[in-house]
Amino acid sequence: MADAAKISDRVGRISKSAIHEMTRLSKDVDDVAFLSWAKPTADTPEHIKQGAIAAIKEGLVGGYSENAGLLELRREIVKKLKRDNHVDAKISQIMVTVGAIEGLAAAVMAVVDPGDEVILPSPTYSTHVRQVIIASGKPVFVPTIEEEGFALDIQAIKNAITRRTKAIMFCSPNNPTGTVWSEEQLRQVARIALENNLMVITDEAYEYFTYDGHEHFSIASIPEMRRNVISCYTFTKTYAMTGWRIGYLYTDEEMIPQIKKAHIPLAICAPVVSQYAALAALQGTQECVARFREHYLSVRNVMCERLDRLGSVFAYKKPGGSYLMFPRILLEEGKDSTAFCKRLLIEGGVSTTPGIAFGPTGQGHLRMSFCVPEAEVNKAFDKMEAYFR
Ligand SMILES: Cc1ncc(COP(=O)(O)O)c(C=O)c1O
Repeated sequence: MADAAKISDRVGRISKSAIHEMTRLSKDVDDVAFLSWAKPTADTPEHIKQGAIAAIKEGLVGGYSENAGLLELRREIVKKLKRDNHVDAKISQIMVTVGAIEGLAAAVMAVVDPGDEVILPSPTYSTHVRQVIIASGKPVFVPTIEEEGFALDIQAIKNAITRRTKAIMFCSPNNPTGTVWSEEQLRQVARIALENNLMVITDEAYEYFTYDGHEHFSIASIPEMRRNVISCYTFTKTYAMTGWRIGYLYTDEEMIPQIKKAHIPLAICAPVVSQYAALAALQGTQECVARFREHYLSVRNVMCERLDRLGSVFAYKKPGGSYLMFPRILLEEGKDSTAFCKRLLIEGGVSTTPGIAFGPTGQGHLRMSFCVPEAEVNKAFDKMEAYFR
C-alpha cells in the first residue's frame, strides 16, 4: 500500500479501474468468456501497417513532429472532418494527440480550474470522470433517461448548471450504453452551452459505428459553437489501432495554443510512427471501416437474441451505436453490480464490467461488449444460461 502522505489528493480520489480489476480476476478463471473490454479484436489493416513500415524505412520517424502533429496528417484530418462530420475545419484548428484520451485530458486541463464543475450525462465513460478529477474538477453526474434508451435529460442538464459549471463532457455513440444521441438533442445541448458560455467536450471515438438508421452528429458542425467546443476523435476504434495511440482534436484556433500548453508536458507530440500509420489510414481504402461495422452489427444482433432468452435476468435497451450494451440486472443480487459481476465471473465463468464503474446511475447494470467474435458471445451466453438456470 502506498504511503498516503506522499499521494496527491487528485490521485487519491481516483478509484481502481473496474475493467482492469475484472481482467486481473479473469486470469484465475478457466475457460473464461470475456466481454469486459471495449477493444477491437481485429488486427490493424495491412495497408496501415505498411504506411508505418515505409515511414520507418525512409528514416522519417526518429524525431519529434510539430507539437500539433504532421502537417500532411492534419491536412487529411481537415478533409475527413469536412466529408464525414460536416465540420468546416482549418489546419490551425487541429491537434494530433496520443489517442482520444490524451486529447480529452489536455482539453480538460486547459478548461477546468480546481473546483470547477463538469456535467457528465450518466452513465458515462469512466475515464472522463478520472480526467475531471485529475484536473481537480468536480464531476457532476446528470442521469440519462433509461426508459427512453438512455436519452439525454435536457431539463436535468439545465438544472445542474451552477456558477461553477465550466463544461459538459460526453461520448456519443456512448460507452457504456451504446446510445447515439440525436441531432435534435445535441442541438439542445449546444444551445444550453451557448446560453451559459460553457465548453462542450465531445468524445467521438465510436463515430463510425452506428446501426438501425441512427446517425452520428458532431456538435462541432454547428458554426455558432466554434468557440464553445473541443471535439476529440481517434483512430483506435475506426481502424483497429488501439496500440498505436493516435487521435486528434478539433477546436477554435485560439484555443489550440492553450490546449498545447497541456499537450506538451503530457506528450510533446503524438508518436510519429503512428502519425504515418494514421496518414495511411485516411488516405487508403475505407472498406475496413465498413467491414468492422458489419461485424459489430451482426454480433450485436446475436447478443440481443441471446439476451432475449435471459429475459428474467436482464432487461436491455438495444444499442444504436458503439459496440457496447448496458443491461439492467433484474435479480435482487444485481443491486450491487460489483459483487454480481465478480460472482458471475468466478462461479459462471463470464467476464463483464460492473455498471457502477460508469457513475452512480450505472449501479444495478453491467456492461457487455460485442467487439468480440460471435463465438465468444455464444460461449458467454451458454455459460450464463447454465448459471442462471
Ligand atoms: C468512449 C471512449 N473514448 C476513448 C477511448 C480510448 O480512445 P483512444 O484509444 O483513442 O485513447 C475509449 C476506449 O475504450 C472509449 O470507449
